[in-house]
Amino acid sequence: MKTAILIWLTLQNSIHTLLIRYSRAREVDAMFVSTVAVWLTEVIKCFICLFLVAQEETPRRFIHALRTQILEQPYDTLKVCIPAMIYIVQNNLFYVAASHLDAATFMITSQLKIFTAAIFTVIILRRSLNRTQWFALAVLFVGVSLVQLQGTKAKESSGESPFVGFVAVVVACCLSGFAGIYFEKILKGSAPVSLWMRNVQMAVFSIPASFSAIYMQDSKTVNEYGLLYGFDSIVWLTVLWYGVGGLSVAVCIKYADNIAKNFATSVAIILSTIGSIFLFDFIPSFTFLLGASLVIFSIFLYSSHQSMVAALGRLRGEIPSTKEAFCL
Ligand code: C5P
Repeated sequence: MKTAILIWLTLQNSIHTLLIRYSRAREVDAMFVSTVAVWLTEVIKCFICLFLVAQEETPRRFIHALRTQILEQPYDTLKVCIPAMIYIVQNNLFYVAASHLDAATFMITSQLKIFTAAIFTVIILRRSLNRTQWFALAVLFVGVSLVQLQGTKAKESSGESPFVGFVAVVVACCLSGFAGIYFEKILKGSAPVSLWMRNVQMAVFSIPASFSAIYMQDSKTVNEYGLLYGFDSIVWLTVLWYGVGGLSVAVCIKYADNIAKNFATSVAIILSTIGSIFLFDFIPSFTFLLGASLVIFSIFLYSSHQSMVAALGRLRGEIPSTKEAFCL
């Protein structure tokens, strides 16, 4: 199950990267408003989660579950307010960063979340990482950076501020690391609330918050041209795929963890770069091959340590608990 989710997240992320790049970089008369895309992604995710919750219950019990787990437990619902709001800020910041940084720089810097997730894992979840694991994370970071470095050279475009883009991506990475670990703590905590219901709870906050962001940032365009300005089939596909990606992240956090999620996304970067070979006539260089090898090496390094811990536990006759088994 865990492996299947990680493979799915890797494939999902590879297509996501190509789609989002294509939707923003192509020549169109009307470019869609990114805050609207973020809001619609939240709406779509909410509908998917409601549908999935409804699949598990009869219609009557579905309404009852919504009432008891959302309205009648305001404290429990409020717990997810923090990651919900953070994810909205993060998703919008990533669009800001992508507008000010060239694609390669944006993707290298956004790999900072490998470290922020690891640091918050240690601080919030109190899991310790040994030197080999930190080393594997560092190798992963260098590998992904090399893969991206071989990308296009930065374009000198007017109106772009690399400093703004850099600050946006660094803040977004810190938020991603914190929100992911916080959500993992809530999800693997004691309250028996399903993953999909947790996401419906998040939607209670994220939908109004992302809608307000449209009017705070893009009210002029939206008032003049409407919410769906620039929306064509490619944009809809990107929004839908973003939603599926968000829910895949949620499933990955539940069945694996945030660090495993970042490894899957790093492999996705390599796959999407390979995808560009066919789609955008991209030619891989030695730097790319070196970076890709380092990423694969880091995965073996990180997971071989985990397998060793599991094997040692078995040798000593220790049977890991379900929670530990997930971590392993
Ligand atoms: O990898 P990263 O932390 O950046 O991924 C976070 C993404 O996953 C955000 O777009 C967030 O909205 C989405 N997500 C979600 N539901 C969760 C957790 C994350 O939609 N329960």
